[in-house]
Amino acid sequence: MQTPITHKKGQLYFDTIALRKIADKLPTPFYLYSEHTLIENYKNFLHAAQDANLPAPLICFALKANPNPYLLKKLAKEGAGADIVSGGELARATESGISRQKIVFSGVGKTLEEIEKGLMGVGIYSFNVESLEELEMINSVAKRLKKCARVAFRFNPEVHAKTHKHISTGFKSHKFGLLRKDILKALKTKSLWSHVKLVGLSVHIGSQLTCLKATGKAMRELGMLAREINMPLEFLDVGGGLGIDYAPSDKNTYQTPNDYMQVISKNLQKTYLKDHTIKHLVFEPGRVISARAGCFITSVIRTKKSGGQCFVIVDGGMNDFVRTSLYGAYHEILVNKKPGRKINSHVVGPICETADCFATDRMLPPLQPNDLVCVADVGAYGFSMASMYNMRKLPKEVVVTKSGKITIT
Ligand code: LLP
Repeated sequence: MQTPITHKKGQLYFDTIALRKIADKLPTPFYLYSEHTLIENYKNFLHAAQDANLPAPLICFALKANPNPYLLKKLAKEGAGADIVSGGELARATESGISRQKIVFSGVGKTLEEIEKGLMGVGIYSFNVESLEELEMINSVAKRLKKCARVAFRFNPEVHAKTHKHISTGFKSHKFGLLRKDILKALKTKSLWSHVKLVGLSVHIGSQLTCLKATGKAMRELGMLAREINMPLEFLDVGGGLGIDYAPSDKNTYQTPNDYMQVISKNLQKTYLKDHTIKHLVFEPGRVISARAGCFITSVIRTKKSGGQCFVIVDGGMNDFVRTSLYGAYHEILVNKKPGRKINSHVVGPICETADCFATDRMLPPLQPNDLVCVADVGAYGFSMASMYNMRKLPKEVVVTKSGKITIT
């Protein structure tokens, strides 16, 4: 996977532009995205699916990872669809030029209004239904609007994805999806189907997956259920979740899009695709497309020594970027300094919580006020999870375009 940051003679470059030159244009903190990296990652993922001979892959980018309008427009031009979880994301996807016929709507809490919006005009590609109660609501809204809703069951395959417990979603005790027996029951309940049509099945077992054992099992379960249902299906949707290597120690466990496609292909072929035809295999990747395309740029306010420890206090905080505070996630820290003497440092923000910390125990050069600090791989679940906690402003977002222009979005 591409990374846009390089270090040359003590200067950080983002794509081909010196980071200092970008930071001179607007105050820190801000998010910085590389259009080039995003599109390369998208193409790489799509080509991996095509090379694995999977039926007409449709890549529905998960907007929750990064709903930046400039970047979405570029993905739309490449032919991407969208995986959405709210009316807000539906509006953002369509405003960005993503065709409604390439939108899948997941989530356990779709409201009446959101269902109506999904059905208006040209209906969306699929409501990925997560309960019988939701199916009932979609059917009744479609009836009132004199429409037929396209739905897929989000199947809960009861597998344990090895990832952070907050982002594992495919086990029996989780709120997501329908269990096999409930799907089979729903199919027998005629009253649920007057204004909906079953067009597919979907699964999504979790995020930041680096071990693909559970993915393989989920694919087999999906294939077996599709076979058991014994109805023509237009698509299978394998969800998102492929992880990236954030830390140097992830290098050994990280799986490439090609590895991932092999696991999907092998397990779906065996259980379903060898003797069934579908129009599309749908994917809902977020992180693997956008994480590496983004950096968070912040400046040193001051350093502080306390209890024998060096704290580097920066102007960005956990409200701007929360992954490290919320999940204890590791992100590389890069600084705009010549290599030389290094000291053990904690990089922390100004927010009044101890968890407001981007990194602990990193060996960094001694830093001074106004030095730039770059938190890497934040193009997924970065700005999209930002808040205004402590009455701070939301950070700005900047894109380095394919032609090397700096655009504030
Ligand atoms: N599809 C569904 C139904 C999802 O719930 C998600 C993510 C995705 C696709 C995209 O997953 P990805 O390819 O990005 O792993 N805030 C957390 C991640 C939460 C993921 C939620 N669902 C983090 O920062 O790690």
